[in-house]
Amino acid sequence: MNLKVLSIVGARPQLVKLAPIAAALAAQGHRHVIVHTGQHYDADLSDVFFSGLGIPDPDVHLGVGSGSHGVQTGAVMSALDPILERERPDWVLVYGDTNSTLAGAVSAVKLHLPVAHLEAGLRSFNRRMPEEHNRVLTDHAADLLLAPTEEAMRHLAAEGLAERSVRTGDVMVDVCLRVRDSVLADPAAPALPDGIDSEQPYLVATLHRAENTDDAARLGSLVDSLADLPVPVALLAHPRLVARAETHGIKLDRGAVRVGRPLPYAAMVAAVLGSRGVITDSGGLQKEAFLLERPCTTLRTETEWPETLAGGWNELVPHPGELGAARWTATATRPAPEAPRGTPYGDGRAAEAVAAILAERARG
Ligand code: UD1
Repeated sequence: MNLKVLSIVGARPQLVKLAPIAAALAAQGHRHVIVHTGQHYDADLSDVFFSGLGIPDPDVHLGVGSGSHGVQTGAVMSALDPILERERPDWVLVYGDTNSTLAGAVSAVKLHLPVAHLEAGLRSFNRRMPEEHNRVLTDHAADLLLAPTEEAMRHLAAEGLAERSVRTGDVMVDVCLRVRDSVLADPAAPALPDGIDSEQPYLVATLHRAENTDDAARLGSLVDSLADLPVPVALLAHPRLVARAETHGIKLDRGAVRVGRPLPYAAMVAAVLGSRGVITDSGGLQKEAFLLERPCTTLRTETEWPETLAGGWNELVPHPGELGAARWTATATRPAPEAPRGTPYGDGRAAEAVAAILAERARG
């Protein structure tokens, strides 16, 4: 059966997941309509992913931009109605846990269009996170839940959603391993912020979550901890971090920290591969570090990707300032563990499985 699938994306991590899905839908002969909500609009967070990952240009751009949760989510919903009415796809596919995900799911459900949620079943159990609201609400609205891991399947079953759930593996593995292989086949010095020598040990850091950036004292203490490390830290700064640091009067570029712009996907993979380790609050980067065999230190109290914690590949450090300098340094600069990592996120062919399941489960 040839399908018409309509993907709703808008934020950087969704574009990474869109790349293998777009390729798999095309390979299986399905029609694919891409709607970009415009949640992310800086070229660093959007355009470079389309060009770098070979994603077809969006068919529709809603141009909603930034705003409070209600404003942003509502703007996506009101702009989507006429598009969904016009396209009437066999599936509306929403990705991950952003405001664009929730808006897409709610709009489609209200128009009686079947909704599939890619990356379903992740839970932090932290109800203060906007992402947790978005993913729980989206899972309960959607008709088909495409879960990346066994753990995600367990969460969905615990919420009474087992019948709608299918384990597909994680499409981020597809893209990460493909890009890793092309980076390794054609090695070049990674694009790092000025002042970081790629021949010497360095760490890659990112920080963008609301719970880490929005409170001045919290952000100040996290940046202090990065600045105090004895190894140079390439802080690839999301615009949210830059904006909040400026509002709070916090200087990012100090001590060990050198600030750079967010990197395109292949450049990020190259930067991680060249690094001694990663410090982050990003879900995607925790997993990329794991897949690329670099130790990760996560500046959060919990992770939606607990498989990365096995064997010490990822460590949660919610309050580095409270650890004491010696323990913080030892954790952040620890060598890669020797423990085997297994393949909890699948074998790199998840997007193919997603396309096949969409065809199998379409209402017809
Ligand atoms: C969003 C997602 C988050 C995801 C992240 C990936 C929600 C609630 N959050 O967070 O789950 O991990 O994307 O990057 O959907 N800004 C710009 N240019 C842009 C986009 C944003 O300058 O292109 C700045 C603006 O100051 C804006 C702020 O970043 O107010 C936050 O942007 P927003 O889209 O609300 O959330 P993110 O923090 O990017």
